[in-house]
Amino acid sequence: MMRTVVVVGTLLLGIGAAIAQQDVAVKQDNLMRLQGKSMYGVFLKMTKGEIPYDQKAVDAGIAALEESVPTISTVFATNPKEDVVNSNYGSSQKIWQNKADFDSKVPVVSKTIAEVKGSIKDTASLKAAYDSIQAKCADCHDTYRVKLK
Ligand code: HEC
Repeated sequence: MMRTVVVVGTLLLGIGAAIAQQDVAVKQDNLMRLQGKSMYGVFLKMTKGEIPYDQKAVDAGIAALEESVPTISTVFATNPKEDVVNSNYGSSQKIWQNKADFDSKVPVVSKTIAEVKGSIKDTASLKAAYDSIQAKCADCHDTYRVKLK
């Protein structure tokens, strides 16, 4: 009886840990998707003429990035040790071998956003700002993001 309780308890703990890890991975993935929404869902589409230039949407996108980019280091504080089910991208294990370097990529993104945001007033200036910010996002992705499919 006692043994059954222990076995069931251990099983439940195991399931709990698995769910917690998937939660961490999903939270990290959602943060990235949110930033992708401003960058690719709004800015990139406007620079390509797929949606009309809209200063309010640009300002909202910049504000969203200004708020979420600084949270990257803390949202990526723990290694979920697994990828989000069916995700296109995953985290490289290098992040947790070199967290200080990973974290050092974050303020550069914020700094670039601060530098370019006042210059955005039309499609051409948005394109220039987009390219500058994207280069900094890519600077982390090139090392720490893994393409899963
Ligand atoms: C300090 C590192 C770092 C920075 C800076 C960073 N990212 Fe990421 N990003 C990652 C990692 C790691 C992944 C893969 C894991 C994940 O998706 O959670 C990722 C994944 C993504 C994905 C794919 C999500 C998916 O699974 O579909 C998008 C979109 C994305 N990032 C957008 C951005 C944008 C836009 C910026 C810049 C504004 C940015 N990221 C800055 C580390 C970073």
